[in-house]
Amino acid sequence: MKSTTDLNMVNAYIPGRANLSPVTTAMIERRDALLGPAYRLMYEHPLHIVRGEGVWLIDPEGRRYLDVYNNVASLGHCHPAVTEAICRQVQTLATNTRYLHDTILELAERLVATVPETRLAHLMLTCTGSEANDLAYRIAQVRTGGTGVIVTETAYHGFTDAVSKFSPSLGVTVDLGAHVRLVPAPSLYHAEGADLCDRFTRDVEAAIADLQRHGIKPAALIVDSMFTSDGILPGPAGMLKGAVEAIKRAGGLFIADEVQPGFGRTGEHMWGFQRYAINPDIVTLGKPMGNGQPIAGLLATADALAEFGQNSRYFNTFAGNTVSCAAALAVLDTLEKEGLVQHAAKVGKILRDGIAELANRHEAIGDVRGVGMFVGVELVSDRVTRAPDRELTTRVVNRMRDKGVLLSACAKGHNVLKIRPPLVLSVEQAGMVVEALDEALAVAQSARTR
Ligand SMILES: Cc1ncc(COP(=O)(O)O)c(C=O)c1O
Repeated sequence: MKSTTDLNMVNAYIPGRANLSPVTTAMIERRDALLGPAYRLMYEHPLHIVRGEGVWLIDPEGRRYLDVYNNVASLGHCHPAVTEAICRQVQTLATNTRYLHDTILELAERLVATVPETRLAHLMLTCTGSEANDLAYRIAQVRTGGTGVIVTETAYHGFTDAVSKFSPSLGVTVDLGAHVRLVPAPSLYHAEGADLCDRFTRDVEAAIADLQRHGIKPAALIVDSMFTSDGILPGPAGMLKGAVEAIKRAGGLFIADEVQPGFGRTGEHMWGFQRYAINPDIVTLGKPMGNGQPIAGLLATADALAEFGQNSRYFNTFAGNTVSCAAALAVLDTLEKEGLVQHAAKVGKILRDGIAELANRHEAIGDVRGVGMFVGVELVSDRVTRAPDRELTTRVVNRMRDKGVLLSACAKGHNVLKIRPPLVLSVEQAGMVVEALDEALAVAQSARTR
């Protein structure tokens, strides 16, 4: 089975489309020669960045770009608390999980304590979100004796062989496994009045039944709690409950992929799944966990992990190293000390309200949605049919870049502006985003009507 969407090419630099400076052209040629053809750059005019500071990225000429796309540097680029923790630890000890050390234990205690009611008792560490989902899937297979996986139709969960088979947003060149079933992501904007909770439950039940009809035992339903690559779709509070019950009834696990929404981005809780009052068997973590230091992992219940732990040796050379753990502890401290979850709620709402206001003068804005510092702006060619306007979206993204504001796009129709600023974005900077978007939409729409 092949997926029909390819988010790889959303906002990708396409050679030959734009006139680039000789310096940029030479650097791209050198990069292509050295790194080969698999990498993608963003924007029509790719950026060369040499420094980061708070919400700003800075190029060699000193031009500053407001980075509202970066959910890795969630506390802001090069946050001093994290850089100090890394420097201190790297000067003391940088080693692995084969020795006793306090940092990893303290980190596990702190993360387990974020959701005591879920019984997610154990922390396992990896270096990337892809590895975390790969490990979660292995654990689910051992626990359930099944292989079947259900994901949403434009989901991205990672790049490993196993995980790319259930990451349909990788597009037509990556085969989906025969053990994978896709369900539509629950979009209020496209629901046409239907009960989303009911619909999502029925879709997951149908996927389970189809797996079983093909002799495939379900291992897991894996969901990005904010449906990020599907278009940023925070749903009503009860939305995932029925689907989670369905997968558990079928003997499978529920895995909440928190690589995007985790660590306070939603401005509601520490984790996106808490919005839905559900109990995952496994929660996978990544991106903002080390504010740039590569650290990811998973929290799992004792029940999910018991058999896997007994029969499998787990060692990952760099995962759980003392330096990455020190960075992650500094992230947790800073989230608390700077009140960033509350800040994300407050400034995120100001940002969404500002963009929603633009909808009064820009016909192309079909929907503005999100939660906390997670904003999706769906651009349509017709508000009645809600048809996606992919070309306009690409023009807006590039116009924003030219104006010095960095964002990108997502969703099946490649038509949702994806805005994920560092949590420290200020009210004034939120205003700069709205102002730039107003102008970018005007320019991009005038190109459409010409
Ligand atoms: C929801 C989700 N899960 C997993 C991953 C994979 O994480 P990584 O790039 O760290 O391997 C990503 C990356 O974008 C993601 O968005």
